[in-house]
Amino acid sequence: TSAMQPYRTSYHFQPPSNWMNDPNGPMIYKGIYHLFYQYNLLGPVPGHKVWAHSTSTDLVNWTPHVPAIVPSEEYDVNGCWSGSATILQEHKPAILYTGVNRQNQQVQNLAVPKNLSDPYLIEWVKSPQNPLMEPTAMNMISPDSFRDPTTAWVGPDGGWRVIIGSQSNRTGMAISYRSEDFVNWTKAEHPLYSANDTGMWECPDFFPVSAQAPVGLDTSINGPNVKHVLKVSLSDSQHDYYTIGTYNSVTDTYVPVEGSVDSNSGLRYDYGKYYASKTFFDSKNNRRILWAWINESSSADDDINKGWSGIQAIPRTLWLDKSGKQLVQWPILEIEKLRTNQVDLPNQLIEGGAILEVSGITAAQADVEVSFEVKELEKAEVLDPTWTDPQMLCSRKGASVKGSLGPFGLLVMASKGLQEYTAVFFRIFKGQNKYVVLMCSDQSRSSINNSNDKTTYGAFLDVDPLHEKLSLRTLIDHSIVESFGGGGKSCITARVYPVLAVDDGTHLHVFNNGAESVGVPKLSAWSMKKARIN
Ligand code: FRU
Repeated sequence: TSAMQPYRTSYHFQPPSNWMNDPNGPMIYKGIYHLFYQYNLLGPVPGHKVWAHSTSTDLVNWTPHVPAIVPSEEYDVNGCWSGSATILQEHKPAILYTGVNRQNQQVQNLAVPKNLSDPYLIEWVKSPQNPLMEPTAMNMISPDSFRDPTTAWVGPDGGWRVIIGSQSNRTGMAISYRSEDFVNWTKAEHPLYSANDTGMWECPDFFPVSAQAPVGLDTSINGPNVKHVLKVSLSDSQHDYYTIGTYNSVTDTYVPVEGSVDSNSGLRYDYGKYYASKTFFDSKNNRRILWAWINESSSADDDINKGWSGIQAIPRTLWLDKSGKQLVQWPILEIEKLRTNQVDLPNQLIEGGAILEVSGITAAQADVEVSFEVKELEKAEVLDPTWTDPQMLCSRKGASVKGSLGPFGLLVMASKGLQEYTAVFFRIFKGQNKYVVLMCSDQSRSSINNSNDKTTYGAFLDVDPLHEKLSLRTLIDHSIVESFGGGGKSCITARVYPVLAVDDGTHLHVFNNGAESVGVPKLSAWSMKKARIN
């Protein structure tokens, strides 16, 4: 970062300039990780999209390449939109992507590597049979609501299946197609899943998770100890919702059991800003990795002034929680290579009202892990049964609203004198028959510049404070604060644009604004080295 560019990240992926949105076609091929992304070559505004391309050996340091797929044909002249990679037989990668055709209709196309012996897969060739799937009067697919093919998987009959996001009269749906050869695709009679009044489903993702161990599974795996995850990006609310359920690969039906794809009660990967996410199976390390686009929270004018818009979240490993009721996410271990100058606080009690500075790290570019221990739980505030919306609750009870057990947590991206700070914290309530933990990311004081969106975010966290410590990890990178509560059971990502808390003017504190004291058995903070992010 420089004085002119205080909001550029040092270890979150972003191109040098212009507009970036969705991660596309992530995969590993011959030991190299590939990331493609929606990119406007011409400016920091959405515009016409190409598939920009970068590769990495560690998911931390990236090398840029020429764009892999750019508009060139009737079927994609108006944009090469999101899609996914599938590893076919004999380890051959293939990309399915949405093309916006001359008539501005959305169609699905195939591209394959020109030279399979090039591990960087620089050149991609579009199939002469494109488009492979298109909206017609017969299939009743709406031409402006048919996009973002997933990674395909193989069913028990050996045939390929893929789903594509769509909607019909506000019923959101994942349309299924099947193919024997990956080129000729037939629409299935029923969608894999649909839900009334959810609007357009963008960037669906469908994959198996192990109900036995926290490992990743390749996309075609199914069986008795396997559950499936369906994620959709709801274009109305710009949030990613997921469900956990069972997939019958013979009838091609999916039945969600936990969560819901509608925005009222759905489970979210992240309760802050996090959209158009996509997973891939890392066959080298047997894990499933999640990528997502983090949009700006500043104005379009600011994007033009700074010359860029959009970053990617730190890739997260994700797996099914022991409870089977939700997923758990954690930043890929490789990111810890960037940690340096570790600072540890001694085990201590933090009195109600106290703020403690953690010094000795570059607080604008840091990784922090802290855990809290609360003794007298019976002193918790009573949770009003009408307080069911965690984001509302966090906005009403922000960091400056004193409680009993909490708010306690971190003040990150804080200026000297605390005119600016972002507060990531917990608050414990006494619910009907259990304690309820609320996790918040409060941006209301993040910047003295009021043109930014400073919405406060919140999530409930499924941990039992009676028996478990409350842990929090926060990745701080100039204009992004990515927080993981309870070992990754609830995640909140926020964008912040401080004016005073910039580079060396940035501080980190641990705070307790509750009446009761809390134990801090462990706090470690690291400066983060700069990665090669493009
Ligand atoms: C999601 C999305 C996708 C589309 C792409 C276009 O952010 O709208 O549905 O394919 O972005 O860039």
